Amino acid sequence: MIATALLALQIGATQRYQKVAVVSDQVLASKVGADILRKGGNAIDAAVATGFALEVVHPAAGNIGGGGFMVYRSAKGETFALDYRETAPGKAFREMYLDKNGNPTSESYLGPKASGVPGTVAGFYAAHQKYGKLKWRDVVEPSVQLAERGFAISPSLADGLKDLASKNKQFKGTWRIFGRSGNFYKAGETFRQPELAKTLERIRDKGQSGFYEGETAQAIVDTMNPGNGIITLQDLKNYKPEWRKALTGSYQGYDIVTMPPPSSGGAVLLMMFGMLKNDNLKTMGFNSAATVHLEAETMRRCFADRAEYMGDPGFVEVPLLKLLDPNYLAKRRSEIDLDHASPSSLTKSGLNLGNEKQQTTHFSIVDADGNAVSNTYTLNDSYGSKVTVDKGGFLLNNEMDDFTSKPGSPNRYNLIQGEANAIKPGKRPLSSMTPTILSRNGKLFMVVGSPGGPTIINTVFEAILNVTVHNMTAQGAVTAPRFHHQWLPDEIHYEPFAFTNDTLAILKSKGHTLVKGGGQGSCHVIVIGANGERYVGCDPRLSTAGQDGY
Ligand code: GLY
Repeated sequence: MIATALLALQIGATQRYQKVAVVSDQVLASKVGADILRKGGNAIDAAVATGFALEVVHPAAGNIGGGGFMVYRSAKGETFALDYRETAPGKAFREMYLDKNGNPTSESYLGPKASGVPGTVAGFYAAHQKYGKLKWRDVVEPSVQLAERGFAISPSLADGLKDLASKNKQFKGTWRIFGRSGNFYKAGETFRQPELAKTLERIRDKGQSGFYEGETAQAIVDTMNPGNGIITLQDLKNYKPEWRKALTGSYQGYDIVTMPPPSSGGAVLLMMFGMLKNDNLKTMGFNSAATVHLEAETMRRCFADRAEYMGDPGFVEVPLLKLLDPNYLAKRRSEIDLDHASPSSLTKSGLNLGNEKQQTTHFSIVDADGNAVSNTYTLNDSYGSKVTVDKGGFLLNNEMDDFTSKPGSPNRYNLIQGEANAIKPGKRPLSSMTPTILSRNGKLFMVVGSPGGPTIINTVFEAILNVTVHNMTAQGAVTAPRFHHQWLPDEIHYEPFAFTNDTLAILKSKGHTLVKGGGQGSCHVIVIGANGERYVGCDPRLSTAGQDGY
């Protein structure tokens, strides 16, 4: 059974390019990035151009009103991690989302008060200032054009915009711009965004200050006031991205470069690889009961540590050295009983999967010289806070919900988190985004990342294992069905066709609770072949996803 499934997975043709590749959740954005490379731009130029284009063509998650993380590896092997995560506004405080009875309210995820200070434009600007080759205006211009001239709406975007607008009429910018005041867009219609085009023009002409000062900043603050939002002009002016030392580790001869806190993604990923470093997963087989049990037990333990210890390193001490200590990870591995699931109920806090669609978006880029960018950024929920900056034409994030509103109470993703992630002005909420790059013998090997809230980490983990251990093609690795365990609730969530009935029966007999769910993430990878070819794995779970290159 498994062999047949694997064979089928290899049949999905892997796109191959000789020199450059861009892959994202929207093929139009990938084309913008690849065109920048055709014009002689490098991976950073292409990343900035792709990121701005996603704001235009993938408004559910592409953003200038949110934030994210970029991991970079130059052809020579230099690396950086750029943190442009949103920050809590100056007026934020620990109990700001509790009602008079001390219960969490919906304001952490719906409406203007849910937004952190956006980081995307500052992040892209900083990356470009330091590493860009083309002029700033030339990498922003294609998105101005896309917003001005418009593009044909896909069926999924038409459905998404109708759903967004009809459920959020109270936010007048959202109703007017994305819902066309009730005359909802239909698939195939041209979607022009004149207010967004003007905003992008200001960014094109003035750089970072075209967003954080002047007209755009005022438009954001004007959007705050009718709805109790707290972002001020000063908050916007104060926003700064952080250059961080990328987190590094290894697995089976592959060197891994990934995102450090305030994302938990890279640390949890390296912990999982560290725990499994001596296990022969290849012999155990892809998604066999033995493999799934061992990996789920590993996920359970690492997610337990995530909840307990991780937060913004500018505000709390994250014990990374201890968490990544091989002796600690070996001890954690030795606690796994290969025949029985260990109950998560013995632990005192944890994570839980919510029902809301988790929207974030990832793109992977390799340029002609072999420089690579892995970028994941987000509004948090699909369409973020659902609030559109009326005069600016863009949605704002609801990233404040990634903080702990009340220790022990679940957030939007039913994440139960600890003190380390409590709200403080200027602090960044803990994330799960896991942009990652692998190399082997000093040469670039794989660029990978995904959206999906807490599932991101396990999606990236499984995609890497699929390529490095199970020898799947780039396309096979992202198409293969996935599963997820996050400590609490004590369940393995799995995609349709992830497990045979036999496998399910064995997992149940070991004591696991199994929950069949929908799609997990949208993982885009580029794998470098023996002769330098760029093999693209474009996740088929999102119908608009696509790649471009040459
Ligand atoms: N907003 C989802 C994350 O950052 O993990």
